[in-house]
Parts: sequence; C-alpha cells; structure tokens
Amino acid sequence: MRLFALSFLVAFAAAFTMRAAKVTFSHDVAPILYKHCVKCHHPNDVAPMSLLTYRDARPWAAAMKEAVATGKMPPWKADPRYGKWSNDPRLTPAEIATIRAWADGDKAEGDPKELPSQPTFTEGWKIGKPDLVISIPEHDLAATGPDEYTYVTVPTGLTEDKWVVAAELRPGNRKVVHHAHVFVVEPPDKKKPDTPAAAYTRWLMVKQGTLEFIRPDAPVIDDGCLRDDNGAFPGSKQNPLGSLIGSYLPGRGPDVYPEGTARKIPAGAKVSFQIHYSRTTGKPETDATSVGLIFAKKPPKQIARRIDLSNHMFLIPAGDPNREVTECHTFDQDMYITSLTPHMHLRGKSMKFTVTYPDGRSETLLDVPKYDFNWQITYREAQPLFIPKGTRLKIDAYFDNSNNNPVNPDSSKVVRWGAASETEMMDGWIEYVDTPPGQSAIATASAAR
Ligand code: HEC
Repeated sequence: MRLFALSFLVAFAAAFTMRAAKVTFSHDVAPILYKHCVKCHHPNDVAPMSLLTYRDARPWAAAMKEAVATGKMPPWKADPRYGKWSNDPRLTPAEIATIRAWADGDKAEGDPKELPSQPTFTEGWKIGKPDLVISIPEHDLAATGPDEYTYVTVPTGLTEDKWVVAAELRPGNRKVVHHAHVFVVEPPDKKKPDTPAAAYTRWLMVKQGTLEFIRPDAPVIDDGCLRDDNGAFPGSKQNPLGSLIGSYLPGRGPDVYPEGTARKIPAGAKVSFQIHYSRTTGKPETDATSVGLIFAKKPPKQIARRIDLSNHMFLIPAGDPNREVTECHTFDQDMYITSLTPHMHLRGKSMKFTVTYPDGRSETLLDVPKYDFNWQITYREAQPLFIPKGTRLKIDAYFDNSNNNPVNPDSSKVVRWGAASETEMMDGWIEYVDTPPGQSAIATASAAR
C-alpha cells in the first residue's frame, strides 16, 4: 500500500517536472490569470495593473508568484478550515505551482495561438440592464481634507411593492468612492408608538454633520454576550438606517440574490446611500453614485432576509493591542444562512462566527484571522446552512489600537462606535432564507409580515 503511494508520488513528481520545464504564458499561465485574476487586473478596474497580456504580466512574474504563494492574491481572508463558500477564489496547489514554475523558469511566452480567448469586460452594468436606476444628486468634494462619509436619502418613486433579485452600486467617480452601501428605508409606521427604548437610542447617538457617533459617556459593554438583546442599543433592535440591499466595496461583485429568492422594497420606500469618499486625487471632484435594481419577473419562492448583529457599546482603550469585543444572538426560528460578512474599520484585527446548536454541539462557521478593511468580503455559503431555532451565535472580534497596526489612524485615541473610519464598528451581517432552497416560503412568510 505504502509502496504504491510512493511510486504514485514519484510518477506524479516526474510528470510534473517534465511539465514544469515547458510552462509558457500562453498555454499554462494565461488560463489561470483569466480565471482568477483579470476580473480586477484589467485596465480601469480596482487593481493597479493589468495582467491580460504577456507584455502586461511578464514584469510582474516574481510578484505574482509571491502573491499567490502567500495567499495575498486573489484576496480572501477566511481560514480554509471552516466553511465552504461559493465565492472562494483560491487557486489550487497545481495552479500555484504552475505560476511558480513559470516565474522561476525562463518566463516564456509560448505560442500566442494557444492563448484562451480573452475574457470581455462590460463597461456598463454587470447585472444587465436595470429596471430602475436611482442616483444621488451630484456631490462635490473639496480637494483636501479628511475622508468624508456622506448619507443621502432618495425616494424610489415606487407605487407598488417590488421584489429585487439583483442590486448593483456604481460609483459615479471611481477615483474617490472608496466604498458605498445602499439601504432600503421603509415608509414610517405611523401606528408604532414612540418607546422609551427608542428615546434612549436617540440619546445615545450624536450627530456631527452627516456622521453618527455614540456619546463618549455612554455605558461600556464590550461583552455583548452578557445579554441577548440582538446587539444594537440596549432595548432596541432597529437598524436606524433600514436594511442593506447592496454594497460597492473593492473587488466585490454586485449583490445577486440566490436563485428563487428576492429582497422586498415596499411601495413608498426610500433608499439611503452611505458613501465613503477618499480624497485621493488632490483635486476637487464630483460624484453621482447610483444603484441599479433588477426586479423579479414573478414573485420569488422565498424572501432573501438579513440581520445585522452589532455591538455599539464597546470601548477600545488607547494603545490596546488586542481588545476583545463580542456579540451574541439566539435565533428564534429555523433558518438557512446564505452569507456572512464581518464588518469593522481600520483597527479591526480578527472576527470569528461560532454557533452552539440546541443539542450543545458547537461549530465555527467563519474565521477571519487577519481582517483587512480594504477587503470587506462577503462569504457566501456553498449550500445554505441550516440553523435550527434556539441556536446561539457568538461573534468574537479583536481590535488592535496599538502602533503595531500599520493602518491605525491614531493609537493615542480611546475608540468607540462611530460611522467614520477613524472610529470603529463591530458588525456581523447575516443573509438568510426561511426554508430550504427551492421550497416555497413566500405565502407563510409574507402572511407573517
Ligand atoms: C478582487 C480583485 C482582485 C483579484 C481577483 C486579484 N487581484 Fe491582485 N490586486 C488587486 C488590488 C486592488 C491590488 C492592489 C492593492 C493591494 O495590493 O492589495 C492588487 C495587487 C496585486 C499585486 C501587487 C503586488 C502585491 O503583492 O501588492 C500582484 C502581483 C497581484 N495583485 C497579482 C494577482 C494575481 C496573480 C491574481 C490572481 C491569481 C490576482 N492578483 C487577483 C485586486 C485583485
């Protein structure tokens, strides 16, 4: 048995060395780049250089080898031991070995006739022609100053409920839009009385321009698992911004909801854009970011839902290299998780999602050991993950507010919750559906709403 395995290995290695000897760009490397890299590495996209042609790619041979060997590229931050993800872009060991062999060898071009056909890139909408496009009014940005977060709310003009199957945020000016989110704000429920909890929430939050911060003298709760209040503010479960429907983040594709599912936008709703501008050009700039929506042709089988779990009450002391902040939630119904997104700002160091099922079994769903604000990745489940009622989710985050953190804006500051990237957030965004894929839940679900 051993001998067999050994001879197999020798044969494999021999075959591989023979193969490696004649690795060429056209035959071996280009197919890997076209599959895994050029969606970002083509002219006018997020990456600084194109890797489409031999001439483009050759000077980057050593850097590419390094980037794929270390797992820096393609960007993906999840510990591979946990979860199976439909958008996992990682290269196979054989693909990494091919790039390595090419970079270490004579970096030959090979026969250009062997090149696979070049992928095409749409300049326009990636989701196809939207049924509705909603834009912010033109926004002017001065040449200098700190990063700016702008919140703009725009009416949808919808007179009937619509089901959204895909949402794409398009920056008007890619040079200055760092990232953007768009939320659906439902028309206010006039029947809902103002509660003491809502009043307390208003007291906790301070507005400065378009930005919100928590009061510096708000109570401090780092361990959000002490109480199962679904995070947010004590006594309040509402996300003040409404419900996120789409995001633009470096390298992230549009939000296309799983087959058969859709998000609801009720008649009379508004959409609220949150846009993070970076003044990268040193010149005055204008932006008019928009969101394109595709509506379902027929009612979906299931509603695509989400919960945003967050701890708003933490405090990170100045200089603290490893502050733990947690948040817990017990699910009060069966559900199927379709994606998880960790969200923190520049001091975010790691985030882990663990569930304890009602039978006591524990499972890590996602571990992002080295969080990176520049790559706010949504981890999409390969198969919707069943979460029985009574399951408790724990989100465990660590923050580095020391000088060891190269992107720390200021280690001498005490940091609390806030919308600006110099302050912090501790969020886990969870997308889910109510029943197994393909099974219709819409009748019961909409009745329950
Ligand atoms: C999701 C978009 C995206 C994908 C996919 C992607 N890159 Fe990148 N890449 C970037 C961006 C943005 C940068 C510049 C910023 C940075 O380094 O993080 C970059 C930087 C690089 C660099 C610069 C050197 C370095 O390490 O900083 C190399 C080399 C590179 N990418 C190679 C690749 C290769 C090879 C692939 C495919 C196996 C790939 N990239 C896939 C977006 C992407």
